[in-house]
Order: sequence, then C-alpha cells, then structure tokens
Amino acid sequence: MEQAWVEEVYQKILAKEAKVARRSQGKIPYTTKNGVFDDKSGKEICWWTNGFWGGMLWQLYHATRDELYKEMAIENERKLDANLMNHQGMDHDSGFKWLPTSVAHYKMDGNAESRNRALLAADNLAGRFNPVGQFIRAWNNWDGNEDGSFAGRAIIDCMMNLPLLYWASEELHDPRYRQIAMMHADTARKNFIREDGSSKHIIEFNAKTGEYLYSVGGQGYEHGSSWTRGQAWAIYGFALSYRHTGKDRFLETAKKVADYFISCIPESGLIPVDFRQPESPAYEDSTAAAIAACGFLEIAHHTGEEKYKEAALTLLKTLADKRCNWDENIDNLLEKCTAAYHDKEHEFSIIYGDYYFIEAIWKLMDKELFIW
Ligand code: GLY
Repeated sequence: MEQAWVEEVYQKILAKEAKVARRSQGKIPYTTKNGVFDDKSGKEICWWTNGFWGGMLWQLYHATRDELYKEMAIENERKLDANLMNHQGMDHDSGFKWLPTSVAHYKMDGNAESRNRALLAADNLAGRFNPVGQFIRAWNNWDGNEDGSFAGRAIIDCMMNLPLLYWASEELHDPRYRQIAMMHADTARKNFIREDGSSKHIIEFNAKTGEYLYSVGGQGYEHGSSWTRGQAWAIYGFALSYRHTGKDRFLETAKKVADYFISCIPESGLIPVDFRQPESPAYEDSTAAAIAACGFLEIAHHTGEEKYKEAALTLLKTLADKRCNWDENIDNLLEKCTAAYHDKEHEFSIIYGDYYFIEAIWKLMDKELFIW
C-alpha cells in the first residue's frame, strides 16, 4: 500500500519533470513567476541555491538515463565556474553548490574536471575554518567590504556543507578536511543545540578569541525561536556527519533534534516557518518539511527505527496531497516555501523544496544518487 503510494508519486514526478526540464533549458531556477522558472545564471551565479537544479537533473538522469538531463546538469555545473573564480561569491555554501553538481557528476562517470572543481571548492570551504573558535565562517560581508564584521558568524545550515569536506578527505586520502568538518560539527553540537533539542540559527563568535558572544534569530521569528528549516538542516546534517564518521554523538544529536521536530509537527502535517512564531501572521515553509523528511529517512537508515520513517511519510504525504502542484504546465513542484519569516514575501516556490522532495521520494524508491 505504502509502496504503491510512493510509486505513484514517483511516476507523477517523472511525468511532470520531463516537461518542465525540456522547457527550462539554459536556466538555473530559484523560484517561479506566474508558474515559470526564473533564471539565476549570469549576474546572480553566486546565489547559494544554484546547485539544486543541477542536483534535480542528476537525480532524474540517475532514474531515467535520459541524456537531456545529464547535458543540462553539466551546463549548470559549468556555469558555476564563474562562482568558483569569484572570491566574494565563495562562502560556506560550497557544499550546496558543488555536491549536487560536480560531485554528483564525478560519482556518475568519474569526470576529472568535475573532481577538480569540487576539490577547489572543498579547499575554499576548509580555508573558512577558524581554528581558535573551531567553526567554519558562514558568509562574507554582503557588500564586499571586508571589515571583519562577519568573520565570527557561524550558522546551523553549514552542517549540510560538511559532506564536501568528508568527500575531499576520502578522495585525497588527507584527513585534514574531515578533521575540520568534525571540529565544526562538535562546535555546532555544543553551541547550537539547546537542551530541548531545538537549534539556534546564527551564532556570533569572537573571531579572534573564539569566545561565544551571542545568538540571533536569523531567518526564524526572533532570538530564542526555532526556525524550522534550520531544525531540518541540523537533523539531516548531523545524521550525515554520523554516516561519514561513524561517531555516535552525531547520530544522537540528529535524533535529539528530530525528536524535538516530530513533537512539534502540527495536526495538519504542514510545517510553519518557525515552531515558535505567533499565531498571526503564521507563515508556512514546505522546504522544511521536505528537508526534515530526508533527515528522518537518513536516521531511519542507520537506526532502523520505524518512527523516523513514519514521520517522513507523514510529511511527504501531506506535501504530495496539499502542497505539490501537479499541473505539468507549472514549473515548480512545491508550493508555500518561505526563505525567512521577516522577508517581505512568503509562501512561494523555492527550488531546494523541489530538490529535497524528489530526493526523499527517490530514497523510498531506491533510485537515489547519493550525493551528500
Ligand atoms: N541556507 C540558507 C537557507 O536555508 O535559507
């Protein structure tokens, strides 16, 4: 019964994406305007989400072997070279950009250029490590003015970028990348995860001394709140650090945040932007549901505990029934995604929502190209 449901959703995705991809050639989408994908190629090539479309194409290629997907994924990957040559545009999101593009490509056919790109990105990511505070610096100053004011900032999202470092260590038989990833993960475990299992979003450290200064609400509602996508990054990210290191403390942390997340899932199964947002305005974020589902499935894979698979299915079924747009003339899949609580716009489509929904369904179908 459950597998029949998964198979049905899988087939619907394949049918829709075959049409969407054909009419989206040459683009790197982030969102849709009136149902049509926008394009972040060109001026916005350094935008942090520019690897997810490539990742979707690789997952589709892996499942179907339709060459068009591969050609389009390679085009996305090549366009990112402009980012690789732009220091200001290189931040902690190298994992999100080069794992679903270059590492995916390398895993599919051993492409040497892809390996080279991913290793350059890994070197840059490792270079963001602050050895005194033992954290990876998240962003560069938005305006390019390097006055050091962003040098002490670390964010929970970075847990998802660590697999690029684990990959580089294996590829080069060099433990440094993995050591950096583990030190960052330990810092995150100790400083981001609260007693109740929720995660902070942003922490400001003193970049010179490594001292913890304060946390801020970031993309969630406020200081002390619980931004749901951040919880999801923590769940999946710590579970992945367990996969790559075998260290139980990372799995325990993933489970702690997962248990907290599960205890907060509303009756509707629809995920808010922040579990501690006010009743009004109450915004939704479908991306948090899709990412958390992938994290729950990763934990279930390692522990065999049914409750995590059940939680993933609850979220995915809710998304499939209520938040997937199955109209093949509309480019996006997920609806009601939100980047940040205090942004002007809420509840639109975002490409990584589509990516993680597809990845979760691919996991359940045993069709996934594992790229993290
Ligand atoms: N990593 C940025 C975000 O999740 O919005």
